[in-house]
Amino acid sequence: MTALDNLLKSYRNGTALSCVTAYDASIAKYLETQGVNIVLVGDSLGQVIKGDKSTHNVSFEEITYHAKCVTSGTKKATVMVDLPKNTYNTKSTACKNSKKLINNNLADLIKIEVNSDNLDIVKYLVQKNIPICGHLGLLPQSVKNKSGFRKYGKTKKEANSIYNNAIFCDEIGAKIILLECVEVALARKIANTCSCPVIGIGSGLGLDGQVAVIYDLLGISFNKITSLTKKNEKVINKVIQAFIKKT
Ligand code: KIV
Repeated sequence: MTALDNLLKSYRNGTALSCVTAYDASIAKYLETQGVNIVLVGDSLGQVIKGDKSTHNVSFEEITYHAKCVTSGTKKATVMVDLPKNTYNTKSTACKNSKKLINNNLADLIKIEVNSDNLDIVKYLVQKNIPICGHLGLLPQSVKNKSGFRKYGKTKKEANSIYNNAIFCDEIGAKIILLECVEVALARKIANTCSCPVIGIGSGLGLDGQVAVIYDLLGISFNKITSLTKKNEKVINKVIQAFIKKT
């Protein structure tokens, strides 16, 4: 059985799926040891590793490098890898890049951002037997400025579009759907309707699983610090301060 088969079996047996980002072998190994189901090599590495303002300048070579690092640290967790912006604009580039990651054992699942304009590409990848996670709602690769970082699905038009695209992904055979910053009621409706697992970040509880960026969890974040991460940040600060005092 593959890692992905195991993951989907656990989901059917009632396991709530946890998905946390990692960009290196040590964190990946740690997450796996702690029982995290999906290790995500996210293009959030643009912000948290490279220090950029967005995910937009992550290259395919960079994501491949970090996927190599992460898969060196994992044995059984499902490794999901983002296709970065502009690396899946056509059916053939999407397929070629996905296969490079899958065939070199650098990914069990490929995540792509899905909008109404690239559904044909999603369908093509599924037809080519690429295990796909459809990312819907807030799509960081398309966000142009700060105002794009908001809840999605508040208007009827936007809610219908997200819902229909999620149902499309489910019906054609996407393995997982990831909802980012989607209105809670809409996210739950999607999770209740889809047969594949629906996991979320900033989309409320009551889904099939939750996603987190490791640096947010640790409180070392470029993003908004929540009360949880603030608490964790204090712990890390204490460890560092204790070390400095000893030197
Ligand atoms: O790149 C990433 O870390 C992501 C999560 C925010 C879902 O896509």
